[in-house]
Amino acid sequence: MSRFLSFCLLAALVSATSAQFTDQCTTQDYAAITQCYVTYMAGYNISMTTTVPEYWSFHFARRDLLDADGLHIQPYVCQLGNALSNCLAPYSCMGPNAYMQMNAANTTEATDYWIDLAVTEYQCGVGYNLTMTEFYCMAFCRDRYQPNIDQCDAQAAIDMKNGMDPCAAQQKDFNCQAAVYRNCCDWNAGVYICNVDVAGSKAVNPACVNAGLVTCPAPR
Ligand SMILES: *[C@@H]1O[C@H](CO)[C@@H](O)[C@H](O)[C@H]1NC(C)=O
Ligand SMILES: *[C@@H]1O[C@H](CO)[C@@H](O)[C@H](O)[C@H]1NC(C)=O
Ligand SMILES: *[C@@H]1O[C@H](CO)[C@@H](O)[C@H](O)[C@H]1NC(C)=O
Repeated sequence: MSRFLSFCLLAALVSATSAQFTDQCTTQDYAAITQCYVTYMAGYNISMTTTVPEYWSFHFARRDLLDADGLHIQPYVCQLGNALSNCLAPYSCMGPNAYMQMNAANTTEATDYWIDLAVTEYQCGVGYNLTMTEFYCMAFCRDRYQPNIDQCDAQAAIDMKNGMDPCAAQQKDFNCQAAVYRNCCDWNAGVYICNVDVAGSKAVNPACVNAGLVTCPAPR
């Protein structure tokens, strides 16, 4: 199952802002953070010592597991995700730069991991019940309507290029994606996708979310 959908847009937002990360921890903290990821990757049978795996190879390993085992493996995926989140919780210094310290190949890889963590925290936290109840319907919608989702992102990139306020362009994009999932599945699937997008947005560029300029409706 895809972990975040608005990937292209978020990547565009990141490259539009600064690719230099400013987060900084001590060497000791980085060693502990690395250990959190060693444990996390071991849950997927991925062996890691000091170098985080290439992001998409990790992403596809997790997706293959979800595709193969379906809903009943989701609690395990969230158990790993929540354990990671708890393990990292003491390190408020943590940010995308931590992945550079774990030898991520470039800032895109580091950003992907940082977004993935934020999305996991929604999917396995506040959003967990929706993750479980909407699981198969969203998998179906994703298979069928991913081009429509990509179209929402593409339009946002065009809107921003044309001078639309970036927060407004994001909200429009997230509403667009929510409509795809709402029409394919149900109201709560739309809410879910919107919240996944917001989690990712907040991870890379929190200004719009923190200003309350990008929001999602409540589940029903
Ligand atoms: C990891 O490997 C063990 C032993 O082969 C297997 O039983 C388990 O299902 C694997 N776990 C994952 C998440 O792939
Ligand atoms: C970043 O590194 C990954 C993994 O090596 C690679 O696939 C990707 O093309 C690189 N991206 C950039 C923008 O250099
Ligand atoms: C999830 O569902 C359970 C059982 O229906 C409920 O007790 C719990 O409060 C719900 N959690 C959230 C975060 O909505």
